[in-house]
This record gives sequence, C-alpha cells and structure tokens, in this order.
Amino acid sequence: MPHNQTIQKKAIVVGATSGIGRELAISLISKNYLVGITGRRSENLNEISEQYPKTTFTSTFDITKIETIIPSLDDLLEKLGGLDLLILSSGYGDLNENLDVKIEIDTIETNVNGFTSVAIWTYKFFKKQGYGHFAVITSIAGLRGGKVAPAYNASKAYQINYLEGLRQKANKESGQIYITDIRPGFVDTAMAKADKKFWMASTLKASKQILNAIEQKKIVVYVSERWALIALILKLIPKSVYKKM
Ligand SMILES: NC(=O)c1ccc[n+]([C@@H]2O[C@H](COP(=O)([O-])OP(=O)(O)OC[C@H]3O[C@@H](n4cnc5c(N)ncnc54)[C@H](OP(=O)(O)O)[C@@H]3O)[C@@H](O)[C@H]2O)c1
Repeated sequence: MPHNQTIQKKAIVVGATSGIGRELAISLISKNYLVGITGRRSENLNEISEQYPKTTFTSTFDITKIETIIPSLDDLLEKLGGLDLLILSSGYGDLNENLDVKIEIDTIETNVNGFTSVAIWTYKFFKKQGYGHFAVITSIAGLRGGKVAPAYNASKAYQINYLEGLRQKANKESGQIYITDIRPGFVDTAMAKADKKFWMASTLKASKQILNAIEQKKIVVYVSERWALIALILKLIPKSVYKKM
C-alpha cells in the first residue's frame, strides 16, 4: 500500500433511516468511512445507498425482533470487512399521559430489549477484535423520571446505567474499547416530542457535535452542549420539588 493511503474506517449506524442516525451516516460517509446502515424502512435505506453506492451497505431489521439482530449484524460486518465504530440511534417513545400500555411496552421492547441485544453483539465483537467504539444516543430524559412518557425516561435511564456497566467491564477486559453516551436535549426530528420545545438543534449541528465527541473518545456528551446546564439543574432538583413539576 502506498504511504499516503490510509485504511478506510468502518462504521455501522443502527437506526439510520431518519433523524439523527441518518445525518450521522451521511456525515460518516463524507468523512470517508465505509458505512453499514440499518432500520425497518428499507426504502429510506435504499435512498441513501443509491446516493452513495460505493460506501454503503444496507440491512433492514427490527431491533425488537431479537432473533434477527445477530445474523443481520454478522452479515453487515462481513460485507464491511471489519468494524471500528457502531452507533446505536434506534429508539422509540411517545407522549403517554393516559398510560397506554402498548406505548409503554413498545418503548421498553425497543429501548431496553433491542438496545441490550445490539449492545451485547457489539461488545462481544469488539472484545474478540481487541478494539472498537460503541456510541449510543440515549437522552437527557434518562436523568429523571417523567410524567408525560414514564417508560421513555425509564428506558433511557436503563441505557445510561447499562453503558456505565459496559464501560467498567471494557476497562477491566480490554483497554481499547470505548463507550460514548450521547444525551440530546431537543433535536429537530420526529422524536422531539414535548409540549414546550426549546434549544432545538438541527440534525446537522447534532451530528457534528456527536462525531466530535466520538473522535475525542468522550464518555458522556450533551447535545447541543448547553444542555449540560439543564442536566446539572435536573440532577440538583430535590425529589420533593421535582414531584410538583
Ligand atoms: N430528537 C430528539 O429530540 C431526541 C432527544 C433525545 C434523544 N433522542 C434519541 O435519538 C435517537 C434517534 O431518534 P431521532 O430523534 O433521530 O428520531 P427518528 O428520526 O424518529 O429516528 C428514530 C430511528 O429509530 C429507528 N427505529 C425505531 N424503532 C426501531 C426498531 N424497532 N427497529 C429498528 N430501528 C428502529 C427508526 O428507524 P425505522 O423506523 O426505519 O425502523 C429511525 O431510524 C432515539 O434513540 C431517540 O430516543 C432524540
């Protein structure tokens, strides 16, 4: 290989059919990565791969169908010929003031069961390989409970806590596995659901900040950055006050 030719990095974005994941996939392609993109809407995946046929591979699967995750990711890995980075952006949640049980269960199946299955596949592969970077789009919502979507906040708290556990495990077992917990406030996508939205970032701005944080191997990052202030305030509010909010 000539001296000036660098090895092409490889990434998978789980949940690249829209929103933050789609923007991240396109940004990675523009940074010369070979990218595997996934989601349930194959037409959205095809739209990206038709635009970048030489640098994308697609795989359509539902992360709540646990049995399809391993074969789908194994297949994508083979097509890519390796993996440096996996970003998990798939997520679900909805406003649920009436506590519709279907919304709560669907949220748990996606953000807890699906997340865990993808996390395990990723961790085991990176451990076998000896290195890798796993980044997950969690949420600032994971810091406290929330009356408008209790399962969503609880599922994001689970993700945050699980990633902390994995990070500790990685530190013991392999010095070269990095885990980044990305906590957005509001990003302008279909998932930005709330009565009052503020400090809304575009997907482009969010994607730039997320990729910067990954490059710097950050443990936790708030997107946009000023949401770190809200995080601090949220953590400080006493339970007796929080219950009245
Ligand atoms: N936007 C915000 O304000 C905000 C704030 C905090 C955190 N987040 C988090 O950011 C992540 C990305 O959301 P987004 O804002 O970019 O919204 P989005 O445009 O709705 O993207 C959600 C992604 O998740 C995928 N997905 C959902 N259910 C899935 C399933 N069962 N199997 C596989 N993929 C599934 C969707 O793909 P398919 O439908 O094609 O399967 C889509 O690609 C989510 O985890 C969300 O919780 C967003």
